[in-house]
Amino acid sequence: LNKNEFALNLLEWYHINKRDLPWRQTNDPYKIWLSEVMLQQTQVQTVIPYFNKFIDKYPTLDDLANADEQEVLKDWEGLGYYNRIRNLHSAVKEVQYTYNSIVPQKPKQFFELKGVGPYIGGAVQSIAFNHRIAAVDGNVLRVMARLNEDNRDISKQSTVKSVKSYVESIIPLESGDFNQALMELGATICTPRIPKCLSCPVQSHCESFKSNSVLQYPKKKSS
Ligand code: ADE
Repeated sequence: LNKNEFALNLLEWYHINKRDLPWRQTNDPYKIWLSEVMLQQTQVQTVIPYFNKFIDKYPTLDDLANADEQEVLKDWEGLGYYNRIRNLHSAVKEVQYTYNSIVPQKPKQFFELKGVGPYIGGAVQSIAFNHRIAAVDGNVLRVMARLNEDNRDISKQSTVKSVKSYVESIIPLESGDFNQALMELGATICTPRIPKCLSCPVQSHCESFKSNSVLQYPKKKSS
């Protein structure tokens, strides 16, 4: 992969084509964090109304931290994976108490908070603070496997870790946009079943496109 050219092509496409999503109109780290927690296991279209409702009702980190746990859980109803909101609620209380209600800008401090794993940590630290940390989700794994005809099993932790370092070797200065561009490419162009390779901004970089093997990637388990 020609990393510089790839990053430029991808960013240029993203700037023109990115979807207008509510969490892209803010640079408030709390709101970006809330959006990524919702998006981690739920589709964009489902997340939008919940995100707007939460931001109306809990516009600041303190509003969420001070809220009653049962009420917050009730507001989450329908999104599922309730540990996500339990962890976030506990993490924002921790931020209120320990960091004076300011979301830590130091990756190490942020990663120590409840529910902050490699994905949430990378997404928030790159989008809110421009740290060069990758945010590898299923979309990114699929995109990277296809680009490089990577035969490794994406359900393995070791593959995810290695893809994360690889992406970090490509991330340009606009890290948050770059991470979101990779996800956006996976969500809208490099889709699982019927990828739109003919409209792909990075088609010229894609090994599996060249050998007509796009649908054979990513590899999962012993399939
Ligand atoms: N999925 C996960 N994070 C996302 C984001 N920031 N924008 C769109 N889709 C996403």
